[in-house]
Amino acid sequence: MNDSSENKESDKRAGEINADRAYRELHLTLGKETIQQVVSSFYDLIKVHPTLGGYFSEVKDWDELKQRIGHFWWIDLGGKRYREDIYNPHAVHRYLKIPPSLVDDWVALFSRNLYEHLPKKYADIWLVRATKMAEWIRTDLQQHQES
Ligand code: HEM
Repeated sequence: MNDSSENKESDKRAGEINADRAYRELHLTLGKETIQQVVSSFYDLIKVHPTLGGYFSEVKDWDELKQRIGHFWWIDLGGKRYREDIYNPHAVHRYLKIPPSLVDDWVALFSRNLYEHLPKKYADIWLVRATKMAEWIRTDLQQHQES
């Protein structure tokens, strides 16, 4: 490879890394209120969902749950923390013994909710990130499944 094609290759890689990190800008583009609204409406949908809803039957304070997970996403999308919460989604879902296949239903619902609330270009970015997280959770659930 000559110098110029090597440079092109590394420019391309840098571009890919930037695209991968686009979600970290979403807190600026969308703002706290919109992120919170998207999360709140997702949990309104999940609580009546035929396969996912039952796992939330123990939830007493939906408003607190929405605030907690709204903050989780705010931080993940690059915002500065404003609550003291510590999250451990792997342990939480493992404890709930959620079948790994339900991750598909979760992603489908999350996606539907994003496109209902956000312009496509922002929903696309958030969905890529959420899908990646969902796959980490799926892998963890698969590895801890009782055989
Ligand atoms: C596969 C289906 C899923 C079900 C049935 C499910 C259900 C639940 C439930 C019942 C809780 C506990 C709520 C509470 O605090 O009382 C929870 C927490 C949470 N879930 Fe899920 N979940 C699923 C997938 C996912 C996925 C794919 C993500 C990816 C981002 C996610 C993100 C979270 C987060 C961030 C929390 C809070 C964890 C913590 O408090 O440490 N969930 N989920």
